[in-house]
Amino acid sequence: MAGRRDALLNREKGQSLFGSRIVGAVAIGVLLGCVLAFLSPHGLFSSSNSQTIHNLRNRISNQMVSSECESVEQVNALKSDVQSAKEKSYELKKEVRSLMEKLRQAEQGKGHAQEQVVALGDKHKVGPFGTVKGLRTNPTVIPDESINPRLAKILEEVAIYKEIIVVLANSNVKEMLEVWFTNIKRVGIPNHLVVALDDTIEEFCKSNDVPVYRRDPDEGVDTIAKTGSNHAVSGLKFRVLREFLQLGYSVLLSDVDIVYLQNPFDHIYRDSDVESMSDGHNNHTAYGFNDVFDEPKMGWARYAHTMRIWVYNSGFFYIRPTLPSIELLDRVASRLSSDPKSWDQAVFNEELFFPSHPGYDGLHAAKRTMDMYLFMNSKVLFKTVRKDDKLKKLKPVIVHLNYHPDKFARMKAVVDFYVYGKQDALDRFPDGSE
Ligand SMILES: *[C@@H]1O[C@H](CO)[C@@H](O)[C@H](O)[C@H]1NC(C)=O
Repeated sequence: MAGRRDALLNREKGQSLFGSRIVGAVAIGVLLGCVLAFLSPHGLFSSSNSQTIHNLRNRISNQMVSSECESVEQVNALKSDVQSAKEKSYELKKEVRSLMEKLRQAEQGKGHAQEQVVALGDKHKVGPFGTVKGLRTNPTVIPDESINPRLAKILEEVAIYKEIIVVLANSNVKEMLEVWFTNIKRVGIPNHLVVALDDTIEEFCKSNDVPVYRRDPDEGVDTIAKTGSNHAVSGLKFRVLREFLQLGYSVLLSDVDIVYLQNPFDHIYRDSDVESMSDGHNNHTAYGFNDVFDEPKMGWARYAHTMRIWVYNSGFFYIRPTLPSIELLDRVASRLSSDPKSWDQAVFNEELFFPSHPGYDGLHAAKRTMDMYLFMNSKVLFKTVRKDDKLKKLKPVIVHLNYHPDKFARMKAVVDFYVYGKQDALDRFPDGSE
């Protein structure tokens, strides 16, 4: 890449060198002309000589005109050369990026696989103190293309290393979707896919060169898709997601009210079934804490310790194609359909976190909370980050406008702030909704 860049630089340098030669030639011509004009009327030269000089002058100026024409053409040719070299370099950069991503993931995968072998292999004695690790990276399922060959084909083209960002969208969120994919493209994340829930969105994606998948008509589910509120669509996504996992893909499920500022795949650990952004707003609430409950009447035992963690955000999580992951999707989808009033995010968290107990088998899924400053919710941004000189300088991977109803306006402000560097872009908004 460096060599290529040097070549480009040299070419540009060559171009300016060429330009300065023309300027030099013109200057010499003009100077010569002046000298001759000064000398010719009376001085040293006879009339025949002045004829020669006239011819000479003509020749020089003719030459200058023709060399100017040639140079315009040459400059244009060079310009288009430079342009195509730039395009090529962009393509190569993209390729290098995707190869690096594959390499890094292969290495990460090798590490996880070794841990799996240790944990799942023959029974073995326990190693020394502090060296023992339980299984958290579950093995992936065998892909089954027969369940949806059309989607399988799309994913084969769009996904990178069996990973893809997926968003569900209907016409209600068209303008936010535009901000969504514009920023994804700006960052240069090729592996994203819109699941279009109506014709308008399908057309909109096609005309904007955004990878799109339209599901086959599916009774019941599709009336939700067309007319549904945000919450109803959220329920649908668990059913849609299942197919992606069955096909063997890891999905980064994304809501539409999210601004991408870096490539999230560079910041995923891939060691758990579910890796999710948090609704928490500081270390305690995002990562879990011991919340002491006080009941003074109990005297000596007045303090009861409780475990608390702010919920995972079911609008942005990375899910690997494993049995616990698919079990999670099934459990959430079936609870949502049996109780239409339930909220998908609450159900998602209850299924993830409640342990087995009498009469109930809990889900045994491995989970990881994403970094709250890299995968930032809008409460963290508007309540804390924008007022803190140090935190303000951090560049998040994504910002999710989950905490605010004026999503579109705040999304654009986030772009102004982080992409265009407008330092006051976030100032006009209140912390919460007023
Ligand atoms: C939150 O946790 C991080 C990482 O563990 C630490 O560096 C930081 O100081 C903590 N912040 C606060 C306010 O405790």
